[in-house]
Amino acid sequence: MASMARVLFDSVAGTLEAFSEVERRIVVLGCLFSDIGKTGPARADERGQCIIIDIFAVEGVRDDQQSVAQFLSAHFPNDAESRRQALRELGLDLEAPIRAFWNLHSGWTLEILEESGAPSEVVAAAATHHLLEEVNPGAIVAPDQRFSRPFGDNLAFDRAEKLIILLDKYDAVRRRAGLGHDAAIGWLRARVQRSRRFRNDADFSALIDRMSAVLQAGGERL
Ligand SMILES: [Fe+2]
Repeated sequence: MASMARVLFDSVAGTLEAFSEVERRIVVLGCLFSDIGKTGPARADERGQCIIIDIFAVEGVRDDQQSVAQFLSAHFPNDAESRRQALRELGLDLEAPIRAFWNLHSGWTLEILEESGAPSEVVAAAATHHLLEEVNPGAIVAPDQRFSRPFGDNLAFDRAEKLIILLDKYDAVRRRAGLGHDAAIGWLRARVQRSRRFRNDADFSALIDRMSAVLQAGGERL
């Protein structure tokens, strides 16, 4: 993802759309750290972290409304009960749908990065990488898209944060769903259209246009 970001930055360097040094840092580090929360909440011990990493490593799950408890029985039949017990000890709701569990990772990214000493600008960007799905941990994005509390020089959910979201999803549909470039771009446009909040957002649309042009030129290289 970081290499795709660099292709994008280079393509607009020297133009009015050029990304600033701060924006570039937010995008590259935000892409790197956005899924660090897939290791679980900051309070998780090593065993809890391993169980949660295992859950996120399962791909191709069709029924995202099954409970976490059912999910564990289906995918880890040998020791499902001990995994459930470890998650209960972390205070996690095993009756919640697995979709809700997956969505927790943005908040866990926020917790972990805030304790890590990572630059605040990057923390906010990494934690908001599922805002298209309305996942807004700690309600850090206000309705006017400014951050509701200080994150260094990063004042608002804007172009850098939107690019992280788009690169994350483009990468996922190409690598995991196996879509070609044009289909992936079409998928991104449709995904933004489904968001009531962002369907008319000029940044998202300009960024997808740019990705459509320059990632294509970069061929299949990801
Ligand atoms: Fe994620």
